Amino acid sequence: MSELNKIVLKILSNGKGILAADESTGTMTKRLDDINVPSTSENRLLFRETLFSSESMKSSIGGVILYDETIKQTSNSNQTIPELISSTGAVPGIKVDTGAKVLAGSPEEKITEGLDGLRDRLKEYYQLGARFTKWRGVYNISNKYPSKLSIHSNAHALARYSALVQECGMVPIVEPEVLMDGAHSAEDCFTKTSEVIKKCFEQLMLHNIDLTGIILKPNMILPGNKSNKKISSEETAKLTLKCLKENVPVDVPGVAFLSGGQTEIQATENLNLINKHNDTNFIMTFSYGRALQKNALKFWGKNIKDIQGTQDVFNHRADMCTLAAQGKWSTELEKK
Ligand code: 13P
Repeated sequence: MSELNKIVLKILSNGKGILAADESTGTMTKRLDDINVPSTSENRLLFRETLFSSESMKSSIGGVILYDETIKQTSNSNQTIPELISSTGAVPGIKVDTGAKVLAGSPEEKITEGLDGLRDRLKEYYQLGARFTKWRGVYNISNKYPSKLSIHSNAHALARYSALVQECGMVPIVEPEVLMDGAHSAEDCFTKTSEVIKKCFEQLMLHNIDLTGIILKPNMILPGNKSNKKISSEETAKLTLKCLKENVPVDVPGVAFLSGGQTEIQATENLNLINKHNDTNFIMTFSYGRALQKNALKFWGKNIKDIQGTQDVFNHRADMCTLAAQGKWSTELEKK
């Protein structure tokens, strides 16, 4: 078993998943504005440290994706943030892309940037304690999009990124996110997501990526948020599994879904059903941002000194997601 594969299994085994706490300062400021908390670096740290010191870190969280600011911060207990995370048994990770910019040649679409100087930045993050990384490509669905250009260029960037990350001894999370925004159907989402994932693996293989040392972070198959053709969670689970079975090479050890704007309960229920029906060898778990943090953030906003109360809300959510990652969740458990 390669060192990279060991890291993957440490992060994803036994129902554990990933806490995506890598919001850029701009995004975090919007989240804090919504709860009327000033977006200072101290407050950003306080909220995140509250999550990283909670009990469920040991039981439910195998990895945490950090943002550049956070990985360099020191906790109240005088540990660095990566040390705090490692002390719970979880693996520290880092977002390394520098964001999605207008794609020249198809200006209504986006290309993710951040390859220039990446090799040196990766060395620094490794020194700081990171053992896995994230890069997110984004794709919009409409009649014309995603274009072949955006599918190809984002896949190419994801592959170049992955090669550099593995060269540096870390596990790349490969995140091609087909967005939920729009009025498209679940069938459209299925077709486009399939095309996007297929191209990503074509490029990953071209770039000699060790597929046993990556984590795929895809969207689930869902209708657009403005579509009037809703589908059941059972259908989402079945279409998501079909898409992954048809397009992901069997060497890939694990899939960690993004929540992408689903509610906490939807994201939990869908993951649970995916696992109930999982007839693949892929570990299927979560790498949620909003669907792990939303209620905890709302609670914390009422009193930022109520650390225990905030942790209780977060622990519940994280533990529910871990049950879902084992196909053992039910609505009754939510009420306890
Ligand atoms: P969401 O779960 O809120 O979609 O965030 C996950 C993530 O890391 C997006 O890049």
